Amino acid sequence: MKELIDRLYQTHSLSPEEYKVLLENRTTELAEYLFEKAREVRIKNYDHDVYIRGLIEFTNYCKNDCYYCGIRKSNKKAERYRLTEDEILSCCEAGYELGFRTFVLQGGEDPYYTDERMVKILLRMKASYPDCAITLSMGERSHESYQAMFEAGADRYLLRHETANEEHYSKLHPENMRLSNRKACLFDLKNIGYQVGCGFMVGSPGQTVDTIVEDLLFIKELAPHMVGIGPFIPHHDTPFRDCTGGTLELTLFLLGMVRLMIPDVLLPATTALGTIDPTGREKGIKAGCNVVMPNLSPTDVRSKYMLYDNKICTGDEAAECRFCMQRRMESIGYEIAVSRGDHLSMQ
Ligand code: 5AD
Ligand code: FES
Repeated sequence: MKELIDRLYQTHSLSPEEYKVLLENRTTELAEYLFEKAREVRIKNYDHDVYIRGLIEFTNYCKNDCYYCGIRKSNKKAERYRLTEDEILSCCEAGYELGFRTFVLQGGEDPYYTDERMVKILLRMKASYPDCAITLSMGERSHESYQAMFEAGADRYLLRHETANEEHYSKLHPENMRLSNRKACLFDLKNIGYQVGCGFMVGSPGQTVDTIVEDLLFIKELAPHMVGIGPFIPHHDTPFRDCTGGTLELTLFLLGMVRLMIPDVLLPATTALGTIDPTGREKGIKAGCNVVMPNLSPTDVRSKYMLYDNKICTGDEAAECRFCMQRRMESIGYEIAVSRGDHLSMQ
């Protein structure tokens, strides 16, 4: 199996069958070998820097009904909120002081945020913080919308594909959501000039080694700047409440593989990883990740942006998370960078 890892390290790709064999023959020892290689590549490209992104969860209204997600439309128990333009700008102000140079506006698919409203917010953010990057994570929108937001200053866009297998996609989403739309949005965003991120949950209901292989092939095809991979964690008010969650072990293994497949990828150690294991994010960094996304949302809305159960950091102030993260990274020999943390190709 080590030969497969060596080849992934050298050529950045394997055949579908080889990905499958590698995934099916995971052992603790093999994982350790993979992580060593992944760290080597990560350090060659990004040294020991960890890029931070200030996450602003600006709306939990959503018109979609994804079966896994705690803020799905049908969850009548979710207490809905929207941040005002001023509230978003205050988050940025606090974040800038704390050393954030990337702000991520993440929310449900909320029609209240029309292109006009988004453009206004983006122009204000860019005018106040011209040295910062803005990432959007607000789902599927039209080409015109993506284009207008890009022209208003958005630099990056996160849109996880969730699964690259049609049948699996339809087990996770209602009829009106199509994998083909999702993929078209990702290619569109990339063509417009965004740095794009795709990704998927590990252990989502219906996922198999074969669907994961399809995910890896799709990631290779899209060649994104960022890849978001975290464990699926059941939410008690969703149809998947009784399903089992994804494991730390498989999530870390996939993160290591993605680092070798796309050596300069921006790879976050996600909050979900930190939720299933107290030092999950540190383990993610040691498996090849180079990004963390501490929460910058106002404290009073945090507990309302619950995509899954037991989410960490919901009671902490932005500054607490920022310094907690710094301690965590320093404890494993890494350092938080006060910079936009652009993809290597743009630095
Ligand atoms: N567990 C883990 N991740 C989830 N997401 C949504 N619901 C869950 C859940 N129950 C992820 C999705 C989405 C991202 C914003 O959060 O992959 O793209
Ligand atoms: Fe939020 Fe540690 S990162 S409390």
